[in-house]
Amino acid sequence: MLLAYRNVSVIVSLCLGLLMLTSVQAYEKLSDETLSALPRPNSDFNIHNGALLSPILQTRVPGTPGSTAVLNHFADFFRTTLPKWKIEVQNSTSKTPMSKKEVPFKNFIATRDPPWAQIGDVERLTLVAHYDSKIEPKGFIGGIDSAAPCAMIMHAVRSIDAALDKKWTALQQQGLNDFLDGEHGIQVIFLDGEEAFKEWTATDSLYGARALATHWDDQFYPAMSEFKTPLSSISLFVLLDLLGATNPTILSYYETTHWAYQSLGELEKRFKSLKQFKTSSSSPWFVDTEKDVHNLTPSGGIQDDHIPFLAKGVEILHLIDFAPFKGFPSVWHTIDDDGEHLDMDTVEDWSMVVTAFAAEWLELEGYFDQPKAATARRDEEYAASEAIRLNKKTEL
Ligand SMILES: *[C@@H]1O[C@H](CO)[C@@H](O)[C@H](O)[C@H]1NC(C)=O
Ligand SMILES: [Zn+2]
Repeated sequence: MLLAYRNVSVIVSLCLGLLMLTSVQAYEKLSDETLSALPRPNSDFNIHNGALLSPILQTRVPGTPGSTAVLNHFADFFRTTLPKWKIEVQNSTSKTPMSKKEVPFKNFIATRDPPWAQIGDVERLTLVAHYDSKIEPKGFIGGIDSAAPCAMIMHAVRSIDAALDKKWTALQQQGLNDFLDGEHGIQVIFLDGEEAFKEWTATDSLYGARALATHWDDQFYPAMSEFKTPLSSISLFVLLDLLGATNPTILSYYETTHWAYQSLGELEKRFKSLKQFKTSSSSPWFVDTEKDVHNLTPSGGIQDDHIPFLAKGVEILHLIDFAPFKGFPSVWHTIDDDGEHLDMDTVEDWSMVVTAFAAEWLELEGYFDQPKAATARRDEEYAASEAIRLNKKTEL
């Protein structure tokens, strides 16, 4: 299996009578045309009434009605918009420094696997953000922390779902699904209880992530499965946190996932050069893209939801707006981190980068509905070549 460096491409050629050759690559770039035509969030990111983001912009402290409302919003979204996804809620409880009573923590998980695949045979791109909000300051909304990242992920999976369906249907119809180099699925995790109730410690933080990592480590797939546990079937854990402020700086922390970081850096560059970014700053977000894999930022520092998964050997890509000296975005953990302080152009650009990355990881080039401009151009080319052909005919 190509787990460590998935950008190595493997070409599998098949001869099935006249049907020749299909190429199976582990990560396939989207064309400029597809990249430019990817769906946009538009008014769904409106902070007052947008279908995706606005329902998350409320206080959602674990165990409170706001938390339940946001959890229901996620469930409704998948049930109505993405009915082929399997949804589950992983529950745990814990005491906190603020309560002698057990507080409930509910992680939301949505999964889409190839329809023919056995559950233990699928490696998954896992997109993660936390949905809980801090108990203090009172009324804290957490726009960048992490309402906006949740909405970005919702937009991304919604935008690739039809293409994924088309690809899997086509593979199945051609009988090619038996020849794949591994089964690839996609998963979303919205974690609860990331924030500390009082002060960040190993036990007062990451309640949901710790519970889920432990639970998935103990849950075994059937004996002959490709993967042992839901944890080992995560091929890349992409954690989005503190995103949605202007001019983000994202560092690359892990050697084994630097290739994925670089793919995001390349997508940023391509979106900008195709004039498909709404933001206009020329300074790059993915500042380590050109860096050698052995020369990355030491990763010890930032405590976040990836930690319990990292400790169990999961491959991590941590997308967090942070740089030495600059620190986190200025609204971080203040009452100003709300919907009004989000930079909506940045939020939208992020959602497009995440969409494109998921599409490339799942190799969806050619499965998106034909962009209108491209179809028109192809029609013109066809008409031109037809004209030449007919012209020749009359010359004969
Ligand atoms: C977790 O709790 C919810 C109720 O909030 C319930 O619907 C769900 O089935 C529980 N999940 C599991 C895996 O038991
Ligand atoms: Zn926070």
